[in-house]
Amino acid sequence: MCGITGYIGDDEALPRVLSGLRNLEYRGYDSAGVALVDPASGAITTYKRSGEVDALVDATPEQSPSRCAIGHTRWSTHGPPTDENAHPHADCHGRVAVVHNGIIENYETLRAERDGCTFTSDTDTEVIPHLIEKRLAAGDDPITAVRAASDRLTGSFAFCALVDGFAGLLAVRNDSPLVIGHGDDGTYLASDVTAFLDRTRSVTYLEDGDIAAVDDGVSVYRNGESIEPTTETIEWDADAAEKGGYDHYMHKEIHEQPQALRQTISGRLDIDGGDVDIELSIPSAHLDSLEEIQFVACGTSYYAALYAARLCETLADVRTTVTIASEYDFEGGRDPWRTLTIAVTQSGETADTLSAIRAANQAGARTLAVTNTLGSTVTREVDDSVFIRAGPEIGVAATKTFAAQVSTLALVAVYIGRRRGTLSTARASTLLENLREVPGAVQQVLDTEADIEAIAAEYADSDAFFFIGRAFAHPVALEGALKLKEISYDHAEGFAAGELKHGPLALVTEDTPVLATLTNGGRAEKTRNNIKEVQARGAPVIAATSGANGTHIDERCPVPDVGLLESLVANVHWQLFAYHVAAHKGRPIDKPRNLAKSVTVE
Ligand code: BG6
Repeated sequence: MCGITGYIGDDEALPRVLSGLRNLEYRGYDSAGVALVDPASGAITTYKRSGEVDALVDATPEQSPSRCAIGHTRWSTHGPPTDENAHPHADCHGRVAVVHNGIIENYETLRAERDGCTFTSDTDTEVIPHLIEKRLAAGDDPITAVRAASDRLTGSFAFCALVDGFAGLLAVRNDSPLVIGHGDDGTYLASDVTAFLDRTRSVTYLEDGDIAAVDDGVSVYRNGESIEPTTETIEWDADAAEKGGYDHYMHKEIHEQPQALRQTISGRLDIDGGDVDIELSIPSAHLDSLEEIQFVACGTSYYAALYAARLCETLADVRTTVTIASEYDFEGGRDPWRTLTIAVTQSGETADTLSAIRAANQAGARTLAVTNTLGSTVTREVDDSVFIRAGPEIGVAATKTFAAQVSTLALVAVYIGRRRGTLSTARASTLLENLREVPGAVQQVLDTEADIEAIAAEYADSDAFFFIGRAFAHPVALEGALKLKEISYDHAEGFAAGELKHGPLALVTEDTPVLATLTNGGRAEKTRNNIKEVQARGAPVIAATSGANGTHIDERCPVPDVGLLESLVANVHWQLFAYHVAAHKGRPIDKPRNLAKSVTVE
């Protein structure tokens, strides 16, 4: 998720685009850039730097006569955060400059067409200015060239372009947000209203497929027809806007999961072929001789690794171990040549996980990082990295990155299973089909939020909370309890449901709600026995379940059927439960006490 912005008007464009980028920095902050049009010559000048917007500000002139400019702040998905990969990207002759948010799925095919174009970055985005220049060279006018170029793209994209021959901004929206701001001092374009809310509250939201041409006026084309843009007024203040109207980043990020998960799987599923297209190249000799996959991680990432380990054992038929990173050693007579060690870390900077993966490296194991952050330290420590593409997560308690980690690790499990020949095409296709349905299933759970909010309010003041589950539902029980601990400061514990009777059952009373995950792959029938055990001690039972209601469940939270990934979808109920219990108690949800988003000390 990146931030794009543009301005055209009577006033200086540079300061307006730079302040827009500052306001959008929560969307991505690993590199930034602007392109300015010289009012006299029409020439386009570009400035771009890796690092935060401050680094870009230092690189741009104090003043500029330009009245028309575009800008970008980046969250890398394709190519590390370098000056070359920063946006705007240009064509071969400096006649076109483009800033883009989203993922171009077919960029490799388009890049391969080349037609004499020189590519200067690793990004998917750079295909856009080259497609536009080809159309201009073929005689198209700028608007037609931009439309023709966008018709060649697949994936999610919103881009804004400066094109020689059009004295203004041209923009396209497809499955990534784009909004026009109608200011007294000019017209703005941006990924979201945060960019220009301090300048105007009068906006037009573009729809998928819309093309906007902004010069002295605003023209919007939909299905090739010019339409009258609808204008609406934003009521939010800047802080609320950054949170998209939610009270907390965490709540916003819970609701961003469907979009984040679509990005995670975008262009990576070959359902008919029962295979995946991910940026991995583990030598087949290593996969064939693989004896063990080790996972090292901390916090929520550790629970995502637990889920992944079971997927790998089930799909790739290989032994796995999951170790809390601070407890990790490469010992026990393992053969490093037959070991793959996977570091799961959204930030890529957690010190415990870094030292664990360094230990595996030292021992000679093959290493892989599954992370959300391109260019992070962990990516420089390993043989391979696969990115979860969840976009920046600001809330300290991880939510959308858990779902994106498990989804990405499911792709890794299919990759290994197919290449080891332990996973049939049919079985792989089923899982990948389920994975494609997960974003929609998560949306269905989010649509029932009011129910879980009511349940949270009813039980918020309980003595303690116990989460239970089996098999794939066990990591979700642990993650559910962690979320509640992190943000509401309540005593909450997750247990393997079968373990209750061997001790923890002593803690269960009528004041300790039990939250059970009863899902496909979660041995629900057995967990129902454990529900009867706690119900016999008077505990209220709240169950996230895809199955029938059953007599022993007090509150049922429905989960759509998505096979082995049902527990992952069920987890959204527990995220919302934790959020509403903490909100009920007025906790500082985005910055809970004693915690940090990434702990860079051991
Ligand atoms: C903690 C965060 O500091 O680190 C957790 O508060 C997170 O949310 C854990 O799960 C691990 O972080 P990472 O970046 O290595 O996944």
